[in-house]
Amino acid sequence: MSILILNGSNSQSLGERIAISLGLKFENVKARIFPDGETYVRIESQVKGRDVVIVQTMFPNQNDSLMEFLLIADAVKDMEAQKIIGVIPYLAYSRQDRKFQPGEALSIRTVAKLMKSVGVDKLITVDTHYQHVKPGEFDLFGLPCINLSAGRLLLEHINEKVSDDLMTIGPDLGSSQIIKYATGEEKIMRKIKKCPICGLPAEKCKCKIKKKKYEITEVESELDFNDRNVVILDDIIASGKTMTQAVNKVKSEGAKKVVATATHGLFMKDSLIKLKELTDYLVVTDAIYTPVSNVSIAPLIVEVLK
Ligand code: R5P
Repeated sequence: MSILILNGSNSQSLGERIAISLGLKFENVKARIFPDGETYVRIESQVKGRDVVIVQTMFPNQNDSLMEFLLIADAVKDMEAQKIIGVIPYLAYSRQDRKFQPGEALSIRTVAKLMKSVGVDKLITVDTHYQHVKPGEFDLFGLPCINLSAGRLLLEHINEKVSDDLMTIGPDLGSSQIIKYATGEEKIMRKIKKCPICGLPAEKCKCKIKKKKYEITEVESELDFNDRNVVILDDIIASGKTMTQAVNKVKSEGAKKVVATATHGLFMKDSLIKLKELTDYLVVTDAIYTPVSNVSIAPLIVEVLK
């Protein structure tokens, strides 16, 4: 029996694209939030004996989206689905992938435990921040996962839209995995944190003030941006601070055109408007829907589900 695609409320058009490309049946799951904040879901398709793919990205409203995903998975397990595959392009809580301070929750492990407990067999995600894993298979606390990378799709789109003469660079260390996979090179910038008292870089300072007081005051790069079309590629744009610093750096060093791009556009506060104004082109994928999600990750998912 064929695969059934069930779309959560955050990823209906992505799920539809995937289903149509594969010639599969799909259902946009009925989901709503009760006035008291609790989530309700209902699946109408025949599920018994079928492999079910649940497509639900986890932004916006990370907690509600996670709960909706868990309720759908649990319901289809009850309805005797054979296998449950979660397609979660933006896997929330991936940044809390270790205990940075004593007493903290290892949040991504909790998410993995919950998914396993409702019968999820496998996850497919895209450019997850979790331990900066490479594209390919990885283990999320006992839950088999596949990480895909959207960097090449973004660069192909930018090649067509802006120019085919591009220099691609990552804005910081966190972008090294996506950059390496998309370009084969590790051209990344380095953020320098300086002490607010003596002005020395954090590693040379002897003032012994609290670490969080060290502000990022400089972005370093040995590359020559003069007269080049520069693409700054990252996995996530959240507050937009990292991207803004990188854009300002390449502009101040004479770049011709500057493109900002990332797989996941969270765009907190007014960062989307500000980055649009600051750059020649801004584009992200539909892993999260935004007004600049002009690249679809559907082909990546389709390849895996074929
Ligand atoms: C960092 O390691 C990541 O690759 C991103 O650069 C970061 O999450 C972006 O966050 P923000 O937009 O808040 O600077």
